[in-house]
Amino acid sequence: MHVDMIITSIGQLLTLAGPARARRGDEMNQLGIVTDGALAIEKGKIVAIDSAEAIGKKYTATQMIDASGKVVMPGFVDPHTHVVFMHTREKEFEMRIQGKTYVEISLAGGGIRSSIQSVRDASEDDLYLRAKKHVQRMMACGTTTMESKSGYGLSTRSELKMLRVNRRLQEDLPVDIVSTFLGAHEFPIEYKDNRDEYIRILKEEMMPAVLAENLAEYCDIFTEAHVYTINQSRDLMAHAKNLGFKLRFHADEIEPIGGAELAGELGAVSADHLGACSDAGIVAMRDAGTIATLLPGTIFSLGMPRYARARDMISAGLPVALATDYNPGSCNCDSMSMVITLACLQMRMTPAEAICASTINAAYALERGDKVGSLEVGKQADILVLDAPGYQFIPYHFGSGCIEMVIKNGNIIVN
Ligand code: NIG
Ligand code: FE
Repeated sequence: MHVDMIITSIGQLLTLAGPARARRGDEMNQLGIVTDGALAIEKGKIVAIDSAEAIGKKYTATQMIDASGKVVMPGFVDPHTHVVFMHTREKEFEMRIQGKTYVEISLAGGGIRSSIQSVRDASEDDLYLRAKKHVQRMMACGTTTMESKSGYGLSTRSELKMLRVNRRLQEDLPVDIVSTFLGAHEFPIEYKDNRDEYIRILKEEMMPAVLAENLAEYCDIFTEAHVYTINQSRDLMAHAKNLGFKLRFHADEIEPIGGAELAGELGAVSADHLGACSDAGIVAMRDAGTIATLLPGTIFSLGMPRYARARDMISAGLPVALATDYNPGSCNCDSMSMVITLACLQMRMTPAEAICASTINAAYALERGDKVGSLEVGKQADILVLDAPGYQFIPYHFGSGCIEMVIKNGNIIVN
């Protein structure tokens, strides 16, 4: 049989094949490794996985790729990003080095609020061109599916503008973009003393407008002591759920205020950050089937001492995913490989667990686990070829990365 592409003689093929759900406990260490394997790809999908010999007997291909001595694995899935923004905030990085905290900078008028004006002033085209550059860099780092949030407009017009940029990125670039509405990222300065009114606008104007244009699948919120309280978060997110959004949370990033518990209570798909998550939060999420998406790049870039308790979460049977949190403020990191290195060194995740958390579990954190995140027959041919002798090399090496080729839907997009 003739197919579009064969990748053969693969030094180490990480299939991540396994149960059709997020992996938990010791399952996170099972990478489904095949040695001297091969993949056949037709019309953007994987049609066969077997030994190089068996594939060679059964298939011929228009394009043959020899991956001897290489690692081949699923494309990275990045389930938490803020790629749509206008300007970077490196001066805040310097302020943090000089001793200010993220919250102090935010309360003094920096932080998220300082990203709002430039997004409001920008045309949709300008915003799109900036975001496109950010996404292209992430693709070069091996990301083939990613989430993208609004949250730097904080007005109906500008939030819709950000979400339309997500739609254009999805249409124009060979990467899957999953769109999330994050109007509750902060309280805009004009409502700082009238928070109830902004909450009313979120519920009555923004959420219906986003759904009317079908611009986002998920609704997210920054639940944290200095931003949205637990009661405000419950009110907003229960409303979002009733309107038809699926939910994700920024929860317990800095203080343990019960964000993880609320995410479980409302049946969120994912709760993210969790640097200060309580034991009760871990149990609530596990029992509700909420995935823990951890963002060690953010803790690293904020220079904070305490990382999320990945080991306790994995022991408790809570599935863990990883993401970059790429944004202009707390974490300007676009590389999932770097996040994997940090997850291993700072949270003691094994290299295999961190790879699982960046592929199949990240795919389930975006409810795309049936399509991407593992290399199995019938799934999208989203594939990385790495210049690495074995999977442990991925976190071991950091800096330039070891991505040699990125394939999206069966097409080579980075080489
Ligand atoms: O996930 N925590 C809230 N939102 C972002 C930071 C956004 C910003 O500082 O611009 C985050 O870290
Ligand atoms: Fe975030």
